[in-house]
Amino acid sequence: MNGLKLPAMAAALLVLALTTRWAVSAEPEKPADYQWNLPKGFPRPYVPADNPMSAAKVELGRYLFYDSRMSVNGKQSCANCHKQDLAFTDGRAVGVGATGELHSRSAMSLVNVAYSAALTWSNPEMKSLEKQALVPMFGDHPVELGLREGDAFLPLLRSDSRYAALFARAFPADTDRFTMANVTKAIASFERSIISARSPYDRYHYDREDDAVSESAKRGEILFFSQHISCFRCHSGFNFSDATASERNADREIEFHNTGLYNLSGGLSYPSPNVGIYEFTHAPADVGKFKAPTLRNIALTAPYMHDGSIQTLEGVLDHYAAGGRRIASGPMAGNGHDNPNKDHLIGGFPLSAQDRADLIDFLKCLTDDEVIRDPRFANPWL
Ligand code: HEC
Ligand code: HEC
Repeated sequence: MNGLKLPAMAAALLVLALTTRWAVSAEPEKPADYQWNLPKGFPRPYVPADNPMSAAKVELGRYLFYDSRMSVNGKQSCANCHKQDLAFTDGRAVGVGATGELHSRSAMSLVNVAYSAALTWSNPEMKSLEKQALVPMFGDHPVELGLREGDAFLPLLRSDSRYAALFARAFPADTDRFTMANVTKAIASFERSIISARSPYDRYHYDREDDAVSESAKRGEILFFSQHISCFRCHSGFNFSDATASERNADREIEFHNTGLYNLSGGLSYPSPNVGIYEFTHAPADVGKFKAPTLRNIALTAPYMHDGSIQTLEGVLDHYAAGGRRIASGPMAGNGHDNPNKDHLIGGFPLSAQDRADLIDFLKCLTDDEVIRDPRFANPWL
């Protein structure tokens, strides 16, 4: 009897072991398996139904994000313009593509981009990280990475043994895994994973650590949230941007704002091609309207504004205090204060030297020193 039972049990155990192994290596991770570990006060981000989060996709996306073979010259990747130590910006006024072509706009931070209700500086229609990733890869207005449809890029991924394993884990159910759709799904998953709020301000505000920020930063916080200075009206909520959405309100419409940076005479009041959402709506009232970006890590992401045309945070405060930027001479001459589309909240305000220093200290305490060193977001090829 025992002689019969034992092998049966052993066989059952073997089957169990085999199926468990099979489940680990070939079954897609269930979305519920992904650990967000969200900071206090952060809702769950919106994730499209056809691209549930998984640790395997995030890992594959990280390799792709940092893979310099993803460009026409084999030297540039997403990370050239989105550098971790600069909160995923590039320190330049405008991006420089693989062919040397200049972008008309400044590279944007990707920290907490999972919460962005509309992507890029001024495109109300760009709502998907999966779709957005195709723009730097294949776009030629301007050339960023300069890939061409039918390039050697997918075959290259297919022939790389490391990618064979990464794609198999990320997309186990697919017969052809090496597709552009899967590449963008993985990159988007990696981008969504870059969530962070470990700044001194978060420790002060959410964790009630009273000494996490200076007295000056506390005064700056009051100014930031005051009615007469009103920064918080556009840079609002947990991500300091009114262009924020989450799982609960993924479809919300957001507002774009003209902050009075320019007021060119004749034609359009903002220099082409950076005319704001007018580019899409062609409504004259939309010239110069841009997204209010997050102010998290803002001390790391100079120069500022959609075209990198303000060098410092002091310069940004001057612009707001004046209620618009005055450019005295040259092709951009004009007083942004008088731009007909300027948001009514940009009225200008008196700013003492003390107020200025306090506001800057407040903005600086939005820097999260951990996200820029977190190994989960770093270059995996090194
Ligand atoms: C040549 C520099 C450059 C490269 C390379 C580049 N980007 Fe960007 N990125 C930019 C610029 C400039 C913007 C702003 C674009 C605009 O407003 O039109 C931007 C914006 C973005 C945004 C929008 C962020 C937000 O807050 O709305 C995302 C997401 C993004 N890039 C992801 C990527 C990914 C993924 C890659 C690689 C596939 C990549 N980028 C490669 C320069 C670059
Ligand atoms: C009416 C809405 C609005 C108000 C009020 C406002 N901002 Fe902005 N902010 C924006 C928009 C829109 C942009 C992008 C404008 C552009 O690039 O043309 C921006 C850009 C910025 C930037 C540059 C961000 C980057 O990534 O380059 C900083 C810094 C900033 N704002 C700080 C502030 C501060 C500080 C205040 C209060 C003194 C303030 N803002 C008030 C809408 C607003």
